[in-house]
Amino acid sequence: METLTIDLGPRSYPILIGPGLLGESGLLGARIRARDVMLVSNVTVAPLWSPRLTGALAGFRVAQCILPDGEAHKTLATVSQVLDAMVASGLNRDCAVLALGGGVVGDIAGFAAACYQRGVDFVQLPTTLLAQVDSSVGGKTGVDHPRGKNLIGAFHQPVAVLADTDTLRTLPDRELRAGLAEVIKYGLIRDEKFLAWIEANLERLLGRDPAALAHAISVSCQCKAGIVACDEREQGERALLNLGHTFGHAIETGAGYGAWLHGEAVAAGMAMASEFSRRLGWLERADLERVRAVLTRAGLPVDPPRLGRSRALELMRMDKKVRAGRIRLVLLERIGSAVCTGDYPDDALEALLDDQFGSAVS
Ligand code: NAD
Ligand code: GLY
Repeated sequence: METLTIDLGPRSYPILIGPGLLGESGLLGARIRARDVMLVSNVTVAPLWSPRLTGALAGFRVAQCILPDGEAHKTLATVSQVLDAMVASGLNRDCAVLALGGGVVGDIAGFAAACYQRGVDFVQLPTTLLAQVDSSVGGKTGVDHPRGKNLIGAFHQPVAVLADTDTLRTLPDRELRAGLAEVIKYGLIRDEKFLAWIEANLERLLGRDPAALAHAISVSCQCKAGIVACDEREQGERALLNLGHTFGHAIETGAGYGAWLHGEAVAAGMAMASEFSRRLGWLERADLERVRAVLTRAGLPVDPPRLGRSRALELMRMDKKVRAGRIRLVLLERIGSAVCTGDYPDDALEALLDDQFGSAVS
């Protein structure tokens, strides 16, 4: 087992990474004060992985809330379902919420924990690659709105993240690839050497080599933990974790939640951000080709759906990085170095959106 720490003063917490963690008795008890826990999972993950928690939960009073599966259910109505279950179980402020699942379960359960009695403890038990490298770390919780991704939410840090790497054995291939998009993101924004390692080890990652996956999760979490520790509430540097997300969120919302996986939309978004960076004269053509090549080899899309430029712009204007009406984008100065900027010619962005999303709604 590897232990990383996310350093947030009194709200610091450990990220434990390794095989078999869900089954280890004592791990949870050492990290939560609660005796009453609400286990939140979904209809896919609970039958696969909640039995492994049996030993770890011995000694706790356990209530469960099993949600429907899918991004389309990442709504306030589903959060209400969790809150109703917590009230019905008579949970007090000294309870803890356990989020067993991917980013959707983690975001919903974390938001319910942020809201219930103005905030109770929660533990992330991520079971997708995407959740183990990104969404379980950093305390962003929340849900989608029909007009925009993740528009409703709160910062609420977990008290611990337990990433049991065994859970990745049952993950569908498409979901594994979607998680790799966020792994590649860290290489692009921060760490060219890590990108080179991903390129050299992509077949091992796609083949679920445990050592390769553990390394990718560890480096990704270290990168994210470092950024979040410096900028917990995204006043600056944390925005860089959003490479590809302004385009990607527009894709997810525009295509209908769940049609494109989050990681797929981020992959196409990162290819678009790289193309824009090249058009602005920042990124070499060879580097753009390198970005597209690694995403393609990972089985990820590099072109967005034909939503039409005006629909894409409408969706991008709801992005949380917009300031004073200006869309700010995360762009690449070079591979391994990103900036968040609204300083680009409008006509250049419109031309990009025309080329990529199409000039008219198809
Ligand atoms: P997901 O939660 O929908 O999980 C993907 C699919 O895999 C689901 O069908 C799920 O039931 C299934 N699944 C999960 N674990 C499994 C396992 N071990 N075996 C078999 N099936 C399993 O998707 P995701 O990619 O994990 O997360 C995407 C979500 O995370 C998006 O809503 C995105 O906005 C959010 N997100 C949040 C943050 C954050 O910082 N809070 C960061 C990135 C992404
Ligand atoms: N996934 C972006 C962030 O956590 O800030």
